[in-house]
Formats: sequence, structure tokens, C-alpha cells
Amino acid sequence: MGMRILVGSFTLVFISMCSAQGQSPVAATPPMGWNSWNHFACRVTANDVHGAATAISSNGMKEAGYLYVNVDDCWQGGRDEQGRIVPNKNFGDMKALADYVHSKGLKFGIYSSPGPETCAGFTGSYQHEEQDAQTYAEWGVDYLKYDWCSASQVYPVSEIREVYEKMHRALQKTGRPMVFSLCEYGWDLVWRWGKDVGGNLWRTTGDIQDRYESMSNIGFGQAGLEAFAGPGHSNDPDMLEIGNGGMRHDEYVTHMTLWCLLAAPLLAGNDLTRVTPEDSAILLNKEVIAVDQDTKGVQGHRVWAEGPLEVWAKPLADGSVAVGLFSRAGPFPVKVNFKDLGFTGSVHVRDLWARKDLGSFENEFTAQVQRHGAVMVRVWK
Ligand code: GLA
Repeated sequence: MGMRILVGSFTLVFISMCSAQGQSPVAATPPMGWNSWNHFACRVTANDVHGAATAISSNGMKEAGYLYVNVDDCWQGGRDEQGRIVPNKNFGDMKALADYVHSKGLKFGIYSSPGPETCAGFTGSYQHEEQDAQTYAEWGVDYLKYDWCSASQVYPVSEIREVYEKMHRALQKTGRPMVFSLCEYGWDLVWRWGKDVGGNLWRTTGDIQDRYESMSNIGFGQAGLEAFAGPGHSNDPDMLEIGNGGMRHDEYVTHMTLWCLLAAPLLAGNDLTRVTPEDSAILLNKEVIAVDQDTKGVQGHRVWAEGPLEVWAKPLADGSVAVGLFSRAGPFPVKVNFKDLGFTGSVHVRDLWARKDLGSFENEFTAQVQRHGAVMVRVWK
């Protein structure tokens, strides 16, 4: 769907991030919100989603930009005689749930699979794509995560693009703008074609787990994918585990630092009705979030590495550069050379986690980084 403007003899075609009706673009910056999977998995109920929406609207997350409240797998209850998807007894009334989420000024997301079954064995959208898209639109869904799962039983993987495009078209046909989240674990180099089949984001990896090894392997493993992200389309290294209890504070700081430098979607995956002040401070640091949401839309890249030490940088719209200094091993000093960021001479440095200007530095900046930790700064001339 696009918009044409005639200027003299030139025709400018704006490839659209917009809906069929030309409303405002969805996911112009990486989507932010919450998803039920990482904490609740298949135990999730409408009550949990209700609780998450209430929490987001009252704990500062909404103001910080977290907007989508997304139900993941396990909400489906089969189909009625007309073939229409129905929720299971843990959900009951999806329209009422969506209405509640909307009443809090938030947006509502849902989950399906192009296969006959989802990954957890619930009803998928196979041969019901248009009907499901229409049902989602009627419920007021704003976001669909579409997870490959059992689709290999009915499609050769060589058709994966067509399969995703089919649902994109079905969503478009409803006329309701919905973020389209591709989840197929990075198969077939999805970052090269995810945008062409209508994806706003696409998972680049298998599932994250709430452990440093899993998170760091996924996060640091995104190096090289930066060329494929931009405004309206994001590489998705999977959802956040902050607050789920499996990592130490420094490790969760690394998680948030890295995801923001990667311009990754920020979907909290914890129980928002019980968040410690420590985890809340990680999720709510506005200067760190601003790096993720920066309108230049550039995904950060690795500028330097030496064994377990890494430096990553993300250029920002105001000409400054966000920098992450990481130690994937013990506590070590980590140095960034300003020339690696395109700066020479004296450069201003601000610590984004401490929210403190550190002053001006010549040629380089060194920080002491904790084991599995990160220091995040913004630097400018
Ligand atoms: C897959 C996805 C996860 C989650 C589960 C649900 O494993 O990658 O993110 O959606 O399915 O079953």
C-alpha cells in the first residue's frame, strides 16, 4: 500500500509503513510494551493480561513509551461452526479484554501461527488467515505476532515468504492498522526479506531464556544485522527477561543496554504486578529508552572487541553517539576510542545509567565494567 504524489514530471512513491487507509504509521520506532510469554507462558489468563495493562498504565511504563499489551500463545479455544476462532476458558471475551486495554490508553496484541497449531499446540490460522485477521480487527487487535511453529507440516520452508505475505495481505484487507511481528527464529535470513512481506519486526534468533549465556549470546550475536533495520522495521532479538529473576542486576543492565543499542523491540516479559525498584529502574530509565527509540532509526553495531570485552555504538539523530562498554567475563576496564565513533579531540561524555555528565575527555574514555556488566554513555562534540 503506498501513496503517490505527483511533482512535475516526477512520481514519488512512498512505500508505506501505513495502513491501507493511510492512517499514521505503526511501529515507526521499535515497538514497546509487554508480552505474556516469558513469565506466564501457557498459564496465562485474561486476568494476568488485565493486571499487566493496569500496571503499565499506573507504574510509569506508559509514560516511558511501553504501549502494547500482548497476549502470546495459549489463548485459543478452537473454532465454532462458522470456523471462527474462539478463545479458551482462561480468556473468555477477547473483545472485552481489548476494550479494557484500550480504555487505559494502551494497545492490544495477539498471537497466532500460519500452521494448523501454535507452538504450544493451540489452534493456528492455517486456511483461516482472512477470517482470523477479520476477527482480530473486530476485537480491536493492534499487533499480531505470527509464529511459524507447525507450519513446516503443511508448507515447504521454501514458501516461508509467501506464507507470511499471505497474512500481511489479510491484515491489510481488514483496514485496521496492526503491527506485524514475524517469528520464525531467523530462518532463511529473514532480515533480508522481512520488510518486503510486510513485517514491522522479525525474530532473528531462537527463544531467549532468563540466563546470561542465552541473553548475551543472542544480543552480541546480532552483529552484522544492523544493515537490515531502519525506521518501521526492526530486527527482533526476542523479548526482555528483566525482572524474571534468572539474572543478576548487572546482567539485566547489560540486557537493557544491549537491546537499546540494537534498536530492538522492548517488550517487557515479567510479572508487572510485582516489580522490584531495582528492575523498575532498569525498565524505566528514559535516557536509555531514548537511545532505543531514537528517530534516526539506526541499529547499533560493534565497533571494537577483544576477547570478552566489547564496545558497541549507535548514532543518534542529534549527532551524538550512544556507546555501550561491556565485559562478558570478570570486572575489567573497557576503553572506547573516539576515533572509532568518528570524533577527534575533546568529547563530552554522559553516563546514561547514572544520569550524570562525566565531563570532557580527550581521544578516549575508559570505564571500569563489572563482571557481565555494562556501562552506557552518550558522547558528543
Ligand atoms: C515459540 C516462540 C516464543 C513463544 C512460544 C509460544 O517458541 O519463539 O516466543 O511465542 O513459541 O509457544
